[in-house]
Amino acid sequence: MSVAATEQLRAFEEQYIPFPPFVAAKEAIESNLNLFRESGLARHMLVLGEAGTGKSSLCRWLLAQHPVAHLPERDHISVLVVTIPPAATVGGNAESILRSLGDPDWGRGTITNKTARIVTLIKGCGVELILFDEAQHLQDRGDVRMHYMVADWFKHLIDEISIPTVMLGLPRLEQLLQTNEQLRRRFSRRIKLALGQSDTDSVETECLQLFLSLASLIHTPVTASPYAPQEMGMRLYYASDGRVAYIKKLLFAAMQLSMELDYETIDTEVLERAFREEIWVHAEGKLNPFHQDFEFRRLDRGGEPFQLSDTLGHGRTRRG
Ligand SMILES: Nc1ncnc2c1ncn2[C@@H]1O[C@H](COP(=O)(O)OP(=O)(O)OP(=O)(O)O)[C@@H](O)[C@H]1O
Ligand SMILES: [Mg+2]
Repeated sequence: MSVAATEQLRAFEEQYIPFPPFVAAKEAIESNLNLFRESGLARHMLVLGEAGTGKSSLCRWLLAQHPVAHLPERDHISVLVVTIPPAATVGGNAESILRSLGDPDWGRGTITNKTARIVTLIKGCGVELILFDEAQHLQDRGDVRMHYMVADWFKHLIDEISIPTVMLGLPRLEQLLQTNEQLRRRFSRRIKLALGQSDTDSVETECLQLFLSLASLIHTPVTASPYAPQEMGMRLYYASDGRVAYIKKLLFAAMQLSMELDYETIDTEVLERAFREEIWVHAEGKLNPFHQDFEFRRLDRGGEPFQLSDTLGHGRTRRG
């Protein structure tokens, strides 16, 4: 592949599209940040979304808007992003926060000592907002009692630091909040990153719009022929489960195919092949959203690409 083609693929991968739930979440978070700056009030929020709905991208986007300022005496970290590690104890979570704050001795001290250092560093670095990504990991380990303890430590920390925070994670994060009423009350504001929440547009229209916005970033023309726009929107919804990651994956693979095979247009046959190669190897005929025989249903049964994260590993399957 030529350098120009590789560059085109890279540029496509890095572009952000302001699709409606992404914008709604970004605006809600920024409004909490502004409220804090103006009044000192710390409001908290939960951002929930299945895998590939854009949670980590949202964190990166906010960080890019509020970058760390490296000052001679100390870094000024307006927005802090902490990735919650899998199956961590209270101590493990405290260490992750200390590392994000740049504490070279993040592993040293008791939990009380680490917590006190977090509070001091947050104040010293001027942190105004914390985003906890992968927050569902908070309830990966142990039983309800353990979840309660982790949630309780978080509640204390949040009260101590008195700045707005956001927990971003898979929908099962809500179960953690069920174990601790005090934490639940603090995170009562919830935003979902999924498409399909608009009062004015159907989920098909939203998928089509997102697809067209992403398609406009690439040089090869994209056509939905022989499908009408509304039908193409439906097919895109079933092909992506309404998640930005899959629409992007699909177009990325279609772009690669068209570059390798010198196609002048990305049509539904290219998309059909891209879906099979990139998203689901078993997507033949009626199970491929871009095939004319597609049976128009969600591909979320056992073994299908959009089996819900909640049902994985529990031996259950959902029927569409
Ligand atoms: N606003 C956006 N515009 C364009 N692409 C996006 C946008 N948001 C996310 N993406 C793309 O979707 C893909 C998945 O995004 P991301 O990793 O943020 O999802 P996630 O919700 O954090 O997933 P996971 O739960 O698996 O961590 C990435 O390729 C990213 O570039
Ligand atoms: Mg992520």
